[in-house]
Amino acid sequence: MKFFADTAEIDAIAELNELGILDGVTTNPSLILKSGRDIVEVTREIAALVDGPVSAEVVAMQAPAMIEEGRKLAAIADNIAIKLPLTWDGLKACKALSGEGHMINVTLCFSANQALLAAKAGAAFISPFIGRLDDIDLDGTDLIADIRLIYDNYGFDTEILAASIRSVNHVTECARLGADVMTAPPEVIHKLAQHPLTDKGLETFLKDWEKTGQKII
Ligand code: G3P
Repeated sequence: MKFFADTAEIDAIAELNELGILDGVTTNPSLILKSGRDIVEVTREIAALVDGPVSAEVVAMQAPAMIEEGRKLAAIADNIAIKLPLTWDGLKACKALSGEGHMINVTLCFSANQALLAAKAGAAFISPFIGRLDDIDLDGTDLIADIRLIYDNYGFDTEILAASIRSVNHVTECARLGADVMTAPPEVIHKLAQHPLTDKGLETFLKDWEKTGQKII
């Protein structure tokens, strides 16, 4: 499974990138707001740092304006994935921009039928928002399973990019279900390394080592 960082915070991205576990980055208007940075400037910086796709989201609502805005975002760097909302106009823009050879990430997906449409419109990525489905008492990971099944039934090569990941359990479940990519806040990615038994075991080993009185360095 590919790991994308769902953030526009350069330091956090750089740290994950240095570890070699980062395959891309996703941003959205809320994350740009949180970073306090200019969208073009910060997107250019992220795209220069990371080899994989960097999603930058359009804010226009009508297809012609989305297409124009998407082209501008794509011109920032070669590894930009244009992020378009899953609306009828977003699908039109997806068809046009993917036809021009751009990488498209269709976002705000909440149903399998929406995912089917995005794949047919040429999306490189579909972003089902699992945490936001959980927020309304549905099971977001069921959607990942449905999309996986449907895409495999018909051989669509659109990658399932599990988004709105809020917990380490979401990551495990998405990996079990065969999501191609997961995008999570850096804090969640850090938590993947944590286990209380690891901490407890390490504490015991260090205490016992101290008792040996030995030194390696
Ligand atoms: O990139 C979009 C997405 O991951 C949003 O997550 O936590 O705001 O629902 P969240």
